[in-house]
Amino acid sequence: MAERLPLVVANWKLNGDKVLLAEMIDALQAFESNEVETVVCPPFVYLNENTNGVKKGAQNIAEVESGAFTGEVSGRMLRDVGCQFVIIGHSERRAMYGETDAVVAKKVLATLHAGLVPIICVGESEQQREDEETIAVISKQIRAVLDDLPSYSDSLVFAYEPIWAIGTGKTATTEQAEEVHAEIRKVLASYNQELAQETRILYGGSVKPDNSKELFSSDNIDGGLIGGASLDVESFTTICKNAVA
Ligand code: 13P
Repeated sequence: MAERLPLVVANWKLNGDKVLLAEMIDALQAFESNEVETVVCPPFVYLNENTNGVKKGAQNIAEVESGAFTGEVSGRMLRDVGCQFVIIGHSERRAMYGETDAVVAKKVLATLHAGLVPIICVGESEQQREDEETIAVISKQIRAVLDDLPSYSDSLVFAYEPIWAIGTGKTATTEQAEEVHAEIRKVLASYNQELAQETRILYGGSVKPDNSKELFSSDNIDGGLIGGASLDVESFTTICKNAVA
């Protein structure tokens, strides 16, 4: 079994400010562990702040490198300010900003092209789960990305975020999450058997200090993508600690 370094990512969405970022950076520096990788993804405007070595990521990226695209930020610009990760295809962007699987695939290519790590989000709605379509929906979302890559990249990260668990306090049970994560790894393995074992698959959706340890202890859950609880320094650092085996 491949050793996968746990990864815990703070997705601040449209929240936070300079003061919170400074506090989070101090806490993550104090925590620093080589047994878990931690990343903070604040809104774009804060990405240029000095994070003293704490890794940072963006919540979105332009499909293209430059040009007349008002309001967009490119991968080259993100790398320029020291960004290493980009969250792509979050369900909020799919639902509210019309990001289709094709757009997500283009953004993943743009991210890799800039030398950044894409965190590719997939997940089903409550209705799709009730209709037992979870695996079909997720496989389709993953295949749309992988079919467009020239070859499987060892820097891909996936995040399983059931839409019904985001911001609702309704976490998937560890068994529900593990079942989907194992299926995701099977889909990845159909593209590259070996690298699929090294690809990290994060869980996101109401992860809190008190449910994170159990989730992260599951075989195919390699960390988390944290929304609400990442806006509280103590909660987020506790979740990071809980990712250490
Ligand atoms: P919550 O942790 O607030 O449920 O959000 C999850 C999420 O969407 C992270 O990307």
